Amino acid sequence: MARRVIKSAKGPYEIKPSKESVWICMCGLSKKQPFCDGSHPSTLDEVDGKLYEYNKEGQRKEV
Ligand code: FES
Repeated sequence: MARRVIKSAKGPYEIKPSKESVWICMCGLSKKQPFCDGSHPSTLDEVDGKLYEYNKEGQRKEV
């Protein structure tokens, strides 16, 4: 199964349901969805207004 995830956030969204924070992936690259696994830094140099696609290895191409 293949999936194209389109999200524009470049970091996780924090929710605080209890004593410890839970970080929800907003970039779409985490391999532990719905939780952030720290993969989001690779999105930091994306240019606003451009569309990118990442493969399973995390390699990016502009589409
Ligand atoms: S926000 Fe997606 S991996 Fe952190």
